[in-house]
Parts: sequence; C-alpha cells; structure tokens
Amino acid sequence: MMDRAALRLILLSVFLISASSQPVKKKQDVDIYSFYINSTVTSRYATTVITSRVANTLNESQEIQFEVKIPKTAFISKFRMTIEGKTYDGVVKEKQEAQQQYSEAVSRGQSAGLIKSVGRTLEDFKTSVTVAAFSKVTFELTYEELLKRRLGKYELLINAQPMQPVADFKMDVHIQEKPGISFLEVKGDLSTGDLANAIKTTRADKDAWVTFYPTRDQQTKCKSCGENGLNGDLLITYDVERLNPKGEVMVSNGYFVHYFAPSDVPRIPKNVVFIIDRSGSMHGRKIDQTRLALLKILSDLDEDDHFGLITFDHSVDTWKRELLKATKQNLENAKSFVKEIRDGGATDINAAVLAGVDMIIRHPREGTASILILLTDGDPTSGETNIERIMANVKKAIGLKFPLYCLGFGHDVNFDFLTKMSLENGGVARRIYEDSDADLQLQGFYDEVAVPLLADIQLKYTGGTNLTKTSFNLYFNGSEIVVSGQITDNSVESFSTEVIAVSKGSNVTYQDTVMIKDPSDVPPENEDFMQRLWAYLTVKQLLERQVLLKGQEKEDEGKEALKLSLKYQFVTPLTSMVVTKPQEDEVEVSDKPNEGKEDPRPPVMGFRPSSRNPTLSLRIQNHFSQHQPSRPYPPTKRPRTVRPALPVRPVLLGQTVPSAAHPGLSDLSDMLHAYDETPTITQRSQKPVLSTMSVPIVRSNRFLLSAAGQSKPLCFDVPLPHKLKLLQDSASEFSMNGKSKNRQNGFSQIVFHYKTNHRLTINTRSISYHDGQNDVEFLWGQEPTQHSTEGVSLILRSNEMDVTMGNIRVVVLLHKKNGDVFLWPGVRQQPKDVSLMGILGKAEASYEEIQGSQTPTLKIMDQEVKASWEDVTDYTLPSTPVIRCLLVPFQAVMQGDISDFTLTQL
Ligand SMILES: *[C@@H]1O[C@H](CO)[C@@H](O)[C@H](O)[C@H]1NC(C)=O
Ligand SMILES: *[C@@H]1O[C@H](CO)[C@@H](O)[C@H](O)[C@H]1NC(C)=O
Ligand SMILES: *[C@@H]1O[C@H](CO)[C@@H](O)[C@H](O)[C@H]1NC(C)=O
Ligand SMILES: *[C@@H]1O[C@H](CO)[C@@H](O)[C@H](O)[C@H]1NC(C)=O
Repeated sequence: MMDRAALRLILLSVFLISASSQPVKKKQDVDIYSFYINSTVTSRYATTVITSRVANTLNESQEIQFEVKIPKTAFISKFRMTIEGKTYDGVVKEKQEAQQQYSEAVSRGQSAGLIKSVGRTLEDFKTSVTVAAFSKVTFELTYEELLKRRLGKYELLINAQPMQPVADFKMDVHIQEKPGISFLEVKGDLSTGDLANAIKTTRADKDAWVTFYPTRDQQTKCKSCGENGLNGDLLITYDVERLNPKGEVMVSNGYFVHYFAPSDVPRIPKNVVFIIDRSGSMHGRKIDQTRLALLKILSDLDEDDHFGLITFDHSVDTWKRELLKATKQNLENAKSFVKEIRDGGATDINAAVLAGVDMIIRHPREGTASILILLTDGDPTSGETNIERIMANVKKAIGLKFPLYCLGFGHDVNFDFLTKMSLENGGVARRIYEDSDADLQLQGFYDEVAVPLLADIQLKYTGGTNLTKTSFNLYFNGSEIVVSGQITDNSVESFSTEVIAVSKGSNVTYQDTVMIKDPSDVPPENEDFMQRLWAYLTVKQLLERQVLLKGQEKEDEGKEALKLSLKYQFVTPLTSMVVTKPQEDEVEVSDKPNEGKEDPRPPVMGFRPSSRNPTLSLRIQNHFSQHQPSRPYPPTKRPRTVRPALPVRPVLLGQTVPSAAHPGLSDLSDMLHAYDETPTITQRSQKPVLSTMSVPIVRSNRFLLSAAGQSKPLCFDVPLPHKLKLLQDSASEFSMNGKSKNRQNGFSQIVFHYKTNHRLTINTRSISYHDGQNDVEFLWGQEPTQHSTEGVSLILRSNEMDVTMGNIRVVVLLHKKNGDVFLWPGVRQQPKDVSLMGILGKAEASYEEIQGSQTPTLKIMDQEVKASWEDVTDYTLPSTPVIRCLLVPFQAVMQGDISDFTLTQL
C-alpha cells in the first residue's frame, strides 16, 4: 500500500521543518511562526488586531521582542500576551497612577529609557518578554481609529514589519460602508513588484475585502524588504457613495453618527493670504521647496479668488499692499516675486501675521471665504517674541472672522504654540516634515483648503445629546464633517438632523429625519462600534481643546476625557497601559507618545523582580521611531540569561513512525511549535447529517469573479457533478483540481500537483501530502500546524488549509452548512502577468456595462452578453458573505466550454 521507505506521520500540533527548508547556518534563535493582521472598517471606524506568535527555539530562556508601528491617530485599546497557556491582559490606568508605580521602579534603579522620536504617520509600540527555552508567546495588539476624509478619500494605513520572514503571514481587511463604496485602491510599498500578486481584492456594493498573503520567499525579495522580511505599508484608499446631500446617519444601540459631506454646492471664492517665513533657518532646501510649492499653488488659484503674499524675517515685506484678483497677469507677477524670495534674518511672526490680518480686513468681499496661511520653521526671535502676547494680539486682530492655518516646517518649530494659535483662531496646525517631498506636503495642505463650499456650519440634532463638536467655520470639498452623539430617548421611532450653513451668497439648510429602528444598519457582531466611535471622537476633541482652556474648565474637560479613556480602555495622553503579572510585583506601562515635546521622563517603564519566577519577566515599552532603521532581530544587546535547561518537552501528541529515510527527525530541536490555542473543532464526530428540512437542491457551483475597477462582480455557474481543472500553471508545474458531488455544494475533494512528485490530497476528513519521499497527514480541526519543504508550505488553521506551492498560494476552506460538509478553494495569490489555466485561472475579469437596455447587458471581450442580478455566497472567505453579482453564462467569461475544464481523474 505504502512505500516502505516512506515515513508516515500523523502530525498533531507539530511544526516540522525538514532539512531542506532552512539554511544550514541557523541565523536566528527566535521564530515568528505566524503573524496576522486583521482590520475591520465599519462606517470609517477601523479596528485592527495584530497577532504575532513567536517561539524561542533556543535551549535557554531569552528575551523576545514585539514591535509594531501603528497610526499616530489611533488609540491602542487592547494588549494581551499568552505565555505557556496563561494570558496577561493589559489594563488602561490613569497615567499618574501608573507613573507612581514607575517611580518606585526608578527608585529601585530599574528603569529602561528609550530615545523618543516620532514618525510622520506612525508611532511605535514595543514590548519584550523573557520566554523559557523552547516556549512560545502570543502577542495580540488592538488599536482603533476613525478614518478621516482628505482630498476625497479615506486612507487605511497598515504597516507590516514582522522583523523576519514569516511562513504563516496574512493580512485580512474588511471594509463595510452602508452607502456603498465608490472606489477602492490598494497602494503602498508592499503593493509593488511581485508582492502585487499577493493582494486580492473582492468588491461588492457595500463591502470590500482585501487580502494580502505574501509567501515567505516574497517577503525577502520585495523592494522595501530584505533579509528581515517585510518592511513597509499597505495603504488602502477608498471613498463612499454620497447620494443623499443631507449626509449619512447611522444609529445603533442608543448612539448615532452623522457624516456630512455634500458636494453639490458651488465653491465659495476665497481671499487667501500666504505668510511665508524667509528667516535664516529656512536656508537651503526648505526655502527651495517653499518656492516650488508656492509656484504650484499660485497656478491652482481660481480666477475669482483674491490673494496676497507676505514674506518675513525681522522685517515684513508684502508683494502688493492689497489683495489682488488671481488674473493671469497678477499671477505671473506674483510668481516672479516668489522666485526672488531669499532667506535672511530673524523671525518676526507677530508683525507678519498682523500684516496678513490687516490685508484681509481692509478687503471685505461679500460671499467669500477668507483664509490666512502661515508657514514658519522657527520660534519668534524678533519684534514681539513673547508667545502669550503674540497669541493675544493675533486673536484680537482676527476676532474669529476667518481661520488661521499654521504650517510648522521642520523640527525646530514650537509646534505647541502654532497649534494653540491656530485653534484659537478657528484653524488647524499641520506639520511639514523636512524631507524630499516637503513641497508636496505644502501643496497637499493647500489642496485641502482650496475649495471652500460652506461657511459657518451649525449642526443640530433633535433628540440627540452628548454631542461632539457641532459648529464649524468652513467646509472644504473633499473633506467631511462628522458628528456623533447619544440618543436621548431610545424608544422614539425617529430623530432629525438639521444643518444650517452659508453657501455662496445664500443661506442653506439641510433637514433629514432618520428612522431609528433600522435593523440592517449595523452587523450584530459589531454592535458597540458606534459607541466606541462616539467615545473616540469625544476624547480626541476634548484633548484637542485642552490647549485652549484654562482653570476649572480645563480640569473638568480633562477629567471627562480621562473618564472616557478609562471606560473604553484607550491609551491616550492621559492614560497608560499597565500589564501586571499575577502574583508578582511586576508592572509594565505603555504610553501614548506626545509629539513635539521632549518628555524629561523616559516614557518607558520596565522592571523586574530580582527573584521569583526566573523564567518569565516582561516589559512593555512604547517609543517612537522616525529615522531609526529597522533593527535586526533579535537585538544584539539582548539580555540572555543562562538558566538551568528546562526539560525539552516534545510536543508530539500523535504517533510517529520514524524512518531512516527521513533525515529531519533526529534533531528534536528542529521539530517545533505547538500553538497555544486549543482546537475549537473536533473532527470525526461531524458526520454529514441529512436534514429533514427542505434544503434547496444544489444543481451547480456558483463562482465569483471580481472585475477590474468595478464594484459589481461577475458570477457564473458550473453544473454538478464534475471533476474540474481549477488552477493550472504549466510554467511552475502546478495544478489544482476539484471533484464535486451531485446535489452538494462545493467540492468533496481537491488535489494539488506540484513539480513531478508532490501531491496534496484534501478531502472533508483529512489532508495528506506526499513530497516524493515522505507522507504527512493532517486532520481538520487539529491544532494549528505548519509543514514546509522546498517551495511548499502547508499551514493548517483549524478549518482552513493554507497551501503555498511556488508562487501560488491557495486557502482551502472547510465549510459546514445545512448538514453539508464541503471544501472551497480561495486563491490568495497567483502570478498576474501570465494567465493561468482553469476555472480560477483568471485573477480578474473586465467588462463594460452597456447603458440603456432593460436587462443588464455587458460587453466582455467584444461580445455583448445578457446578465442578471443574482446572489452568490462567497465561500472563499471564512465569513461566507452573500454578495450581489451579475450572473453571466460560463462561456462568456471563460471563453470555452465546460468540457474544456473537466477531467476524468484528479
Ligand atoms: C477579523 O476580525 C473580525 C472581528 O473581530 C472577525 O469577525 C473576523 O473573523 C476576523 N477575520 C479573520 C480572517 O481572522
Ligand atoms: C468637489 O469635488 C468633486 C470630486 O471630488 C468634484 O466632482 C466637484 O466638482 C467639486 N466641487 C467643486 C465646487 O469644485
Ligand atoms: C443668512 O442668515 C443670517 C442669519 O440667520 C442673516 O443675517 C443673513 O442675512 C442671511 N444671508 C442671506 C444671504 O440670506
Ligand atoms: C544548549 O545547546 C548547546 C549545544 O547545542 C550546548 O552546548 C549548551 O550547553 C546547551 N545549553 C544548555 C543550557 O543546555
């Protein structure tokens, strides 16, 4: 029956590395055997969970680090470590309380400080824990953020830098937007080159799924990657449909959110004055980039805009005393002026801003919006240098008549001062980072405020309470106003919104009534997201206002922000996350970085008791990195304590039949990793039970096919039963075939062939793999297991089998539905430049919709095809969502008959 030389192995929670899968020289004693990123965006509120599972492969205990970068705008809301089956949860505490414990640590001389720096968009979360020999640790970090609309889109930025290539790496993103997703794009350095093949996007009207499943090999070869694996960002940008100009209101569990972003209003002509710092410190690249940006911005002015230019060092120069219309001639003259800007003396911010204010005030124009933009790179050093007095002067001069925006260029600028001054005058401050793209940052900021659509916006909610900010100076095209609150009386059927604003030359009102009891609003598993969104926005705004307030009011609002941070477990500037180990006096703290100020206290605390359990200690740190290069893993300075060796606990639970034919088995330390989790599914007991209920008879398998750039996917049917060529790549000698049964969904067996002698057979009970010499068997539902050999990686995660062969990665899911047990393959990556054979060979379809006919008609490869709206269950995703699709005949998309895709033998 079986080759006698072959080895038969039942793998239960064993990670087996055969000799060929690793270089002879072992570089690292730490193995990150899985790294998952899972991000769910519900109505712009993003919750991201990063899970990293790491094994200490050394025969002694050592410190293991977990370091990730998260967006600066996000709040960490959960952190958990699991070590040897025990879970350690972080608790968010008031910073003072946490710091008290910290002081005790300092007095014992056990602090561990880190240099602080902060990145442009990301900040670091860092922790480390000492793990015993051959033991494992699971880190799980959750953070939350409300995505902000800028220049017509939302951006979900996910950084991936696991510090080494990871066999079981995956990223799953699900975006759900009730009004529908109007466009979606995946960018970032992780989407370039070969890695683009590892990105799959599935789009429906209201949902989008993005998966990113790079193989271990690709993780070292992409442009921004190296020996240490992936290092870069994935940037998912999208926007939503806006059919209702009154905005989108969602209600859930007593909370509501209102997204208001009309675009059907004419632009308001603007009066804009640019106040440009030309002090000595702007010398060099900064002044060059500023000139470049200004020239571009001037070209973008509309003809009915009026503009003024002021440059300043210790003295203030105006281009023209008056605001001038943006005519061609005026712009040409202004550009000549800009080209002549030279850097010079000290910095008189006070005189310059007051000159700008004066220029706007002397030039009143009905029905326009005035904007003052200050660009500076340093502290006031000339004229009035007292910051308090400058702010008082500016506030008095502007009198809340128009906003002041402050752009702080580089690192020497007093950003707190600029933030406060802009907030006091209805604007915002923005950092311009000294970098090669500083001119683009400047232009980007201008683009955001280039098209004012509404002014003096007031939002009112009858039946709403505890509202976030409801009054705004200006609303710019491409942005969005978000208001959230609680519903006073949850028993009422509806509640109403009203927006009053000034549009170009007239007052406008938007009124809407929303039914509260709309069951389809929010998916049940996500019920409390709206409450969290409200808390997030409230805390953000309270913190922002802190700089403006004084005395009792400041204290009260600070207390409120703290209360909410504690209730929702947000790590904010007022709180710290503390991890306490049970039965031990160890405390570790993680803080929210505070950009722009040097904190005299190290932000980190970590200490460990000198005695007690010597095999486990932990430390959480939060520091910020900007230019810090990615550190090799493990760090060279890693404290490594030699301890008496723990007995090696082999994790083999099943039976093995060792064989001389297998070279890898002699070395136990090469056989690794039981995972920490216990399996949730027990197999065997799950015999298909034929239900007596009338289940619709399945006559065909329906396949979903995404279409390039289209939110409406295609689908097609393949009649049952059949044996199908699913995916074939002759170049890499790969094929995947599937067998389906009569009246049953999906597949009962899927077989992979790779190179001459690899064969993987998956059925609904088990999975067996033969690599030409050895046999390996997995059982569905057993503990997560990995197996890899040259070019092949098999990962079993309870009910999904993740198969990588060469540059193709497929996940085969085991589904149980209506008493049916069946398999379904989801291709997670395939080469996109070559067309593969088989039913799933097309990565994407492309079609055009022909307008004007009664039934949907599509043009596919120059052929007109009638389609119909149908539903398809997407079995390639574990959540099996039902998606609306355009059903087209098989021949139309596959360009062939079904018989071209059938086999007699798998
Ligand atoms: C991602 O997280 C969501 C929400 O917690 C969960 O429902 C979903 O199953 C997760 N997806 C994956 C692929 O783990
Ligand atoms: C606002 O932006 C949208 C696209 O983002 C554009 O279609 C519209 O014309 C813009 N409105 C004005 C007044 O510029
Ligand atoms: C808009 O409303 C304000 C007060 O409600 C009023 O003073 C102003 O005249 C109105 N403007 C126009 C153009 O109707
Ligand atoms: C770990 O293994 C090495 C050889 O592989 C051995 O020399 C060393 O003594 C071992 N250390 C402990 C603590 O057992």
